[in-house]
Parts: sequence; C-alpha cells; structure tokens
Amino acid sequence: MALRIKSYEQYQIDYQKSIENPTQFWEGIANTFTWKKKWENTLDWEFTTPDVKWFEGGSLNITENMLDRHLKKNGDKVAFHWEPNDPCAPNKSITYNELYTEVCKMANALKSLGVEKGDRICIYMPMTLEAVVSIIACARIGAVHSIVFAGFSSNALSDRINDAKAKIVITSDGLNRGAKQVELKGMVDTALETCKSIEHVIVFNCIDSGSNMQEGRDLNYHALIADMPEHCEATEMQSEDLLFILYTSGSTGKPKGVVHTCGGYMVYTSYSFENVFQHEGSDVFWCTADIGWITGHSYIVYGPLLSGATSILFEGVPTYPDCGRFWAICEKYKVNQFYTAPTAIRSLMGEGLDVVNKYDLSNLKVIGSVGEPINEEAWQWYFDNIGKGNCPVVDTWWQTETGGIMLSGLGDLSPMKPTHAGYPLPGIQPVLLDGDGNIIEENEQEGYLCIRFPWPSMIRTTYGDHDRCKNVYFSNYKGYYFTGDGAKRDVDGMYRIIGRVDDVINVSGHRFGTAEIEDAINTNEHAIESAVVGYPHDIKGQGIYAYVVVNAANETDPEEMRKSLIESVSQGIGKIAKPDKIQIVTGLPKTRSGKIMRRILRKIAEGEKTNFGDTSTLLDPEVVELIVKESF
Ligand code: PRX
Repeated sequence: MALRIKSYEQYQIDYQKSIENPTQFWEGIANTFTWKKKWENTLDWEFTTPDVKWFEGGSLNITENMLDRHLKKNGDKVAFHWEPNDPCAPNKSITYNELYTEVCKMANALKSLGVEKGDRICIYMPMTLEAVVSIIACARIGAVHSIVFAGFSSNALSDRINDAKAKIVITSDGLNRGAKQVELKGMVDTALETCKSIEHVIVFNCIDSGSNMQEGRDLNYHALIADMPEHCEATEMQSEDLLFILYTSGSTGKPKGVVHTCGGYMVYTSYSFENVFQHEGSDVFWCTADIGWITGHSYIVYGPLLSGATSILFEGVPTYPDCGRFWAICEKYKVNQFYTAPTAIRSLMGEGLDVVNKYDLSNLKVIGSVGEPINEEAWQWYFDNIGKGNCPVVDTWWQTETGGIMLSGLGDLSPMKPTHAGYPLPGIQPVLLDGDGNIIEENEQEGYLCIRFPWPSMIRTTYGDHDRCKNVYFSNYKGYYFTGDGAKRDVDGMYRIIGRVDDVINVSGHRFGTAEIEDAINTNEHAIESAVVGYPHDIKGQGIYAYVVVNAANETDPEEMRKSLIESVSQGIGKIAKPDKIQIVTGLPKTRSGKIMRRILRKIAEGEKTNFGDTSTLLDPEVVELIVKESF
C-alpha cells in the first residue's frame, strides 16, 4: 500500500497539507482503495446538528479491500495466527485465501437465514477465528454488526440487542479464560427472554459444553456453514452506509451505540495502522485487545486486514499458564509490533524480569500502548525491558467515537516523551479549550481536548438517537467535537492526556459511566441510594469506589451486604465493573438542591480527610465527617 509516511519531515509536510487542503489530502489516501464507484463529494460537514459525510456518492464494500484485493498476490499469506488459551492445544493459522472462503460461507449462511443489508447482527463471542469471520461476513453482505464484549452480563447483552433491534446473535457455548471456562450460551438464553427481535442464534462450539439448543431458533455454526457456497458477491455499500454499532459508556444513561460508516472508517483505520505502527509487508502484528472493544475492531480486524497484514489473534489472558505468556507468544511468532494496555504492563511489571528475559523479543520494532494514560514508571519499564531500549513506544490516544488513533508517535519517526501521546496524525486538528470555550494557545495549561475539523472515521451518530450524539459530543463547545478528556500541550507541541473530565471512569482501560454502575447497585433490594467515583489504582489505573446507603444496615452482615451489592453489578453490567471498594454510608453529601457532591466523594476515595475545598453549599456537613471516619 502506498500510504506510509517514511520520515518525520514527511510527517510534518503531510500534516501541513492535511490542514491546508483536507479534501485533497484524504482523496489521495482514499484513492489507494478499491471503490465500486468513485465518490463525487469528498467532504460535507457541520458540527452543529452534527452532519458529517465523507466520500459521498462513492460506493464500496470494505471486505473487498480486506480480502479480495490481496488474494492475487498474497492469497497464501497468513492473515491470522490464532493462539489458543492453552499453550499445549494446537494453534491455527489462516491465510487470506482461507479467510475469504470462510467469510463467504458465513455470509451465504447469514443470507440463507434472511439477513439483508442494514439488518443488525449481535456478536457475543470469544477471541476465535469464527468471531473474526462472523464480523467480516456481516460487512460482506452489508449487515451491521454490534459486537458485545463476552464479559458483559445477560442484562447488558439484552439492552444492547434491544437497542439495536438485532435479528441474529452469533455466540459460542462458552469460552476459555486462563484456567477457567465461562458459559456464554446460557447468558444468551437469559438475555433473549427479554428480546423480541432475535430470530436465530448461531452457536459456535468452543468448549464442548453441549449447551441446550432451542429447536428452530438455535443453529450450530459449523453445521450451518458446511455446505454453503465458497463465493459471495460483496454487497454494494454507499460510503455513509452503516458498517457497525459499538456500545460505549458515557456520563449519563445507558451505554450508547456509536455508529461508524463504511468509507471513512476504512480509509482512516488502514492509514493510521500503517503509519502509527510503521507496518511493513512481512511484519507480524499483535494487538492484545479483545474484539469486543474498539481497539479490537480497528486494530485486530479492520486496520490490519485492510493493509494485508499478518496478525496474532490470542484467545487467552496474559497470566496463563504464567506471567510470561505475552512474551512467549512474541517469541513464538516473531512479533514485530506489539500493542497492549498500560494495565497489562503494570500487572506484568510486578512479576520480575526473569519471566521476560527467558524469551527472545529481538524481533520487536514498535511497542504500543492504548486505553488509558500510561504512567512514567510503566512507560520506562516497557521501553527498557520489552523494547530493550530499541523500540519506540507509541502511546496512542483515541476513543470508540474516533474510530482510529488520533494522537500518537509514528513508529520510530517521531520524537517521544514518556506519558505524552505526542502529535496529531495528519488530518487531525486538536485544540484545548478553557471552561468558556476559548482556545488555549499557551503551553503547559490544562484544557478540554476538542477536535475542530472532521476526520474520516469519526462517530456519525448514536444509534437511534441522534440528539444524544449532538448533546454529548457537540453541545458543550459549539463547533467542536468534545472528547470528554482533559489534556495539556508542552513546549514542543506534544499532547499529554490527563484523563476524563466527565463522570466516566477508566478501569483497566475499560470504560464505565458512574451512573450506569449506580443504576446496577440500585437494583439491589437493600440499596436506597448510591454514588460511584473513580480513585487511583496501582494496576487498573482507576478503581471503582461505591458509597451506598442501604436499608436494614443493622440487620445484615456488612460483608454479606457487600457481596450482594457486587452481585447486582455483576448481573447488571458484568464482573468487569465490580466495585473495588464499597462503603456502606448513612447518607451522601448533597447540596441544598439535592445534588450529590461527587467532588467530595472523589477526594475521600483518594484518601483526603480534611481538605474538601468550598463546602458552603453542603446541606449536612456532618455526613462528610461520618463518611471520612469510615472510609477505606
Ligand atoms: O480517556 C481516554 C482513554 O480512553 C478513553 C476512550 O475509551 P474507549 O472509547 O473505551 O477507547 C479506548 C481505546 C481507544 C479516552 O477518552 N484513553 C485512550 N487512550 C489513551 C487514553 N488516555 C490516555 N492515553 C491514551 N493513550
């Protein structure tokens, strides 16, 4: 592909061009893809409604760019090395030719079930090749996938299915996770008790658990695709047709379905993949994210396949069978670019160097970080011990809503500084705003990170509720996309992300709204009221601290009460959102108008005992004293 920037000077020149003439710049990149029909209008936009259209009039199918166009020259190239959870189980490699066949068979199977362009398909799957095939099969026939991370509960799953009105769920009987096996199909069955839109459940047999199949509704994945034709015409999609929905948490309400569209997402994920990782044809790339998050969408599935890359798909966890698993896999497949989250780095750091130094990591060229701020100690450990002082660390800042990496170094081309994500990619125009919406020109001042010009893979809407998209992202600062993050820019123009400025917490790189956790807690029969805040956590980045007012506090054992509240969160969202600390309180600090003063609760969770700033609006200051006295 002819997309790669090859020097820092070229980056500076391209960046300038992309700002001075964005449409010409992106036309150049878009022209390197296969279009069924060339676009007429490169960009049409306004950030009020908002209304953003890239490559209008053009039509394409993204899967032709991920598969078909590679087949002639690179059909026998490995697309994925699948590494199972159990290192002794057989691994599998799938070539582009084989992936094409599998995708076409699955696409034909979906069609045989009556799936049409625009229908929504929910994918609730472990990290398997079948999951990747299912995703691409949806895109092949223009069905809109909505992947739900397999760690979410049946309640969370049914909310997402209902919001998208999905027609089919693709799932597995269960999944392997380290030494454990987790049941999935039962979760789906429970979820479907409250979902009317689902016509069929396609079940891939992953752990041989012999799960119950409901006649007429449930179909076995492999039996279904076995006799399907090996070719499937790629459905013609308009640039702005929906490619997928991915649910993500915000400050308020239930998670929202972020919508990405075909043309722009294709152009940007491929461009960012090749440049950030400086990926070359024969390199082996490994992104350790789960396909249920945006990182997995953009940098396991779409970006690498669009660029014809060979990637690793890992079913397991970094600590099984021991804490050297990541490094063992890097050695086994001679990984060249490795992309993971700070939380993984921090937890593996604690295991000492013997478990790292056993393995040959000399093939690594670029090591990346994503999902949360990386602290200096973790950055340095990663750089010294994994990159051996030779590999640039690309600290990539982006979001579900941005679709692709926005701020980052480009492999070894860019200068780097620990804890700084660095510079914007070409085409990205970040600004820092103060509380009044004025642009902060000076350096080293914290501001609200906003983007002032569209980029191809940006969020188009929140599914079924365009007003929500407008209110959350485009209303705080008129004319800007608001990221929800606070950031600083240093004298060299490098950006440093401080963290969320809204009620979103980032736990091990997973994003939760405090309101959504409170809602789950409040479903507990004992909970009267709750307030959830984040607090600094050595490994997870942020931990979840819940203050809960309960009834029958005196009659129930506090440990039992905590367990029961945790269970409510596990059921409402999933185990991944379990509070780390639950403090049973008699009341929450409120203003006279009844608003919870979270600022105070955040300070208490951080360990503050006396200095809470202005508390003059507090209704009952004694509540604070009581909470402090019993805090962890
Ligand atoms: O706060 C930022 C943080 O993760 C948020 C986005 O979360 P999500 O949509 O789940 O996507 C995560 C993976 C792209 C951001 O608003 N974040 C992401 N990357 C970084 C980061 N914070 C600091 N540094 C990063 N590199």
